[in-house]
Amino acid sequence: MDNIPVRQHRTLTINILRHNPADGDSQPRLQAFEVDETDAMTLFIALNVIREEQDPTLTFDFVCRAGICGSCGMIINGRPGLACRTLTRDLPDEFTLLPLPGFELIADLSVNTGKWMRGMAERLETWVHASDLAGVDLDQMEQPMDPHLAEQIYELERCIECGCCIAACGTAQMRDDFVGAVGLNQVTRFRLDPRDQRDDSDFYQLVGDDSGVFGCMTLLGCEDMCPKDLPLATQIAFLRRRMVAV
Ligand code: SF4
Ligand code: SF4
Ligand code: FES
Repeated sequence: MDNIPVRQHRTLTINILRHNPADGDSQPRLQAFEVDETDAMTLFIALNVIREEQDPTLTFDFVCRAGICGSCGMIINGRPGLACRTLTRDLPDEFTLLPLPGFELIADLSVNTGKWMRGMAERLETWVHASDLAGVDLDQMEQPMDPHLAEQIYELERCIECGCCIAACGTAQMRDDFVGAVGLNQVTRFRLDPRDQRDDSDFYQLVGDDSGVFGCMTLLGCEDMCPKDLPLATQIAFLRRRMVAV
């Protein structure tokens, strides 16, 4: 009878950046933790093992554990990614976790993506601009939308605002005011929406400079790192063509 190979469980060494900016005595440092790997272990599970069994002060963010909420983005061995969707079996015996750059550090692996995303949304006015919204009658049937167009909008709506595209973006690391692929994706989403009455001149006012679509160096780190596989390169190229034509 053939021998069935037995999978050897490893002891992982996880080097984690520790720093609490609110503590004046805190100095950024890497701290190594050892964790016994289990079957189908994700980084979410590994970090919880560390917090429950070794260091309750370890700070990191999770909500959904299913790649939906966007709160668990971090630099996983040099690449931005979602910790809840990353299996330890895809990582070497020893690896490093860092917080996402480009965002305010709260502590350890926790960054304030919400504050950044809110600022971006307010700046780009990422809501439907329609003059007749005040007169909407909620008892009326909803306005139909072409299914193909609705599908295109839905595709862009899949962004979970995790911040991985900002962490992967050279321009975003150099310019605090760059709206990033996540912001440009939002503009293309509202530009598609037939209920939004803004035209390309209005969108040019929002992204027609180096903090918007003309600051993008098209190196495509954003699309490579997007955990939702959004077509960011296509959207940015399309938006640039439209803005050049204004
Ligand atoms: S575009 Fe992709 S990488 Fe960027 S915030 Fe949205 S889901 Fe995350
Ligand atoms: S393609 Fe543009 S938005 Fe995407 S990572 Fe490069 S510079 Fe940033
Ligand atoms: S915990 Fe929600 S995306 Fe990872």
